[in-house]
Amino acid sequence: MTRRVAVLISGAGSNMAALIEAGRVADAPFEVVLVLSNKPDAGGLALARAAGVEAVAVDHRPFGKDREAHERALDAVLTEAGVEVVALAGYMRLLTPWLVRRWEGRMINIHPSLLPLHPGLDTHVRALAAGDAEAGCTVHLVTEGVDEGPILGQARVPVVAGDTPEGLSQRVLAAEHMLYPQALADFCRTLA
Ligand code: GAR
Repeated sequence: MTRRVAVLISGAGSNMAALIEAGRVADAPFEVVLVLSNKPDAGGLALARAAGVEAVAVDHRPFGKDREAHERALDAVLTEAGVEVVALAGYMRLLTPWLVRRWEGRMINIHPSLLPLHPGLDTHVRALAAGDAEAGCTVHLVTEGVDEGPILGQARVPVVAGDTPEGLSQRVLAAEHMLYPQALADFCRTLA
């Protein structure tokens, strides 16, 4: 069974591109049918369109402080496209309980740290400041607590002497591009 996946982005969309590609190999258990961004200028939108995937921006700014109203607009696009699974990939908005509950058990996220270490932002700066011997990335189910949901997969990346946040971030991102397609495929195979 091929699950219809939407990828939510706010930026460059390199993980999104990896998911689109992985969804096109023979016998993939998912296909990326929609890319959604809260930022109309997100680079990933053009990348998705160039790859032949429907890409829509639902700008959060006109909704002001009403996060749920923005999410209801996003959700309408997801529903219209017949989406079954949502993959957050550099989607940099906190979600309200409404959207989390709406997609409970069907929404996953990638985070650039070895959770439960370093939830939130600036993960690589914090990993280096903490003197961590290794960094990495985590794919997890989305629950109401930020970066707290059950872990579906992790990839480890050694910290090297003289590492910088930029260098570490690039090596972790390369690991993300391998981890996320595999974790999403495994997750889709577990769905009833
Ligand atoms: C990735 O490193 C992803 O793990 C991170 O943003 C980057 C997006 O890059 N996500 C978070 O920090 C979520 N809190 P991409 O747009 O090139 O995939």
